[in-house]
Amino acid sequence: MTEIIDEILRLKHEKNAVVLAHNYQVPQIQDLADFVGDSLALAVQATKVETDTIIFCGVDFMAESALILNPQKTVVHPNPKAKCPMAAMVDVEGLRLAKKETPKAVVVSYVNTTADVKTETDICCTSANAVKVIKSLEEDTVLFVPDSNLGLYAQRYVPEKKFIFWPGYCHVHQDISVEQIRELKREFPDAEVLVHPECSPDVIDIADFVFSTEGMVRHCSSSASKEFIIGTEEGLVHRLKKENPGSIFHAIPDAVCPNMKKITLEDTLNALRNLEPRVVLSKEVIEKARAPLDKMVAIGRQD
Ligand code: 13P
Ligand code: SF4
Repeated sequence: MTEIIDEILRLKHEKNAVVLAHNYQVPQIQDLADFVGDSLALAVQATKVETDTIIFCGVDFMAESALILNPQKTVVHPNPKAKCPMAAMVDVEGLRLAKKETPKAVVVSYVNTTADVKTETDICCTSANAVKVIKSLEEDTVLFVPDSNLGLYAQRYVPEKKFIFWPGYCHVHQDISVEQIRELKREFPDAEVLVHPECSPDVIDIADFVFSTEGMVRHCSSSASKEFIIGTEEGLVHRLKKENPGSIFHAIPDAVCPNMKKITLEDTLNALRNLEPRVVLSKEVIEKARAPLDKMVAIGRQD
């Protein structure tokens, strides 16, 4: 394993590439990456990269967003089979139909969508700024695509707007149950409960805090508490432990995103060796999908 990691580090330099990795990547990939973050932090970081090539260790829509925001760069996605099933719950034809039925609604798409869906979107958001994005809009009606849980969470803070929810969800966060959280709370009564807004409303109701993955990292490093129950994909716990060695973190049993874990060290090595598989999108898609992403990045984080 050390040989593969050494070779990746050598090739990064030789090929003038950076490795960006999502917080849910396996520990070895997080540790060799130049930058680890949530969807919003990664999108922002992609706009700051000075090298020619970005090796994107995350799911497909994240790598696509990196290219849309940096069309002049080479963006390599080490394993194109790493796809977000929630992003696949809405396609561009379906969205066009929904827009016809609700012509007055503004389309807010979670960044977990394909580039095609973004071409029919007014503004994107992530879990770190959904409420801020929706509050910035003049329109009274929001067509929120595709994560109904994130939409329902945002609606709590913008009750004056009417929401139309797409029936999408993240299977990893949907499967986190009230019983699991209650069980952990019984076992670790001093721990703060942090959950992701992709969780179901009943889980959100019993949490102490709701954050994006980066929001959780920020909170844990500044909280007076030193023990936390982490209601999101288990990969984040590696970073939390690394950055907060004096704190205790409890992951949710079985909260694993199999797609995030499809990217291996071998894939990353091959990606650097061959600069393949590349993310390819048409010029037209890039141009149309860029506007909602630029607006999202300009709004910034709320957590
Ligand atoms: P964030 O890391 O942006 O909070 O999102 C989590 C997620 O599920 C990305 O797929
Ligand atoms: Fe998609 Fe959920 Fe996996 Fe994130 S954790 S990539 S939203 S399936």
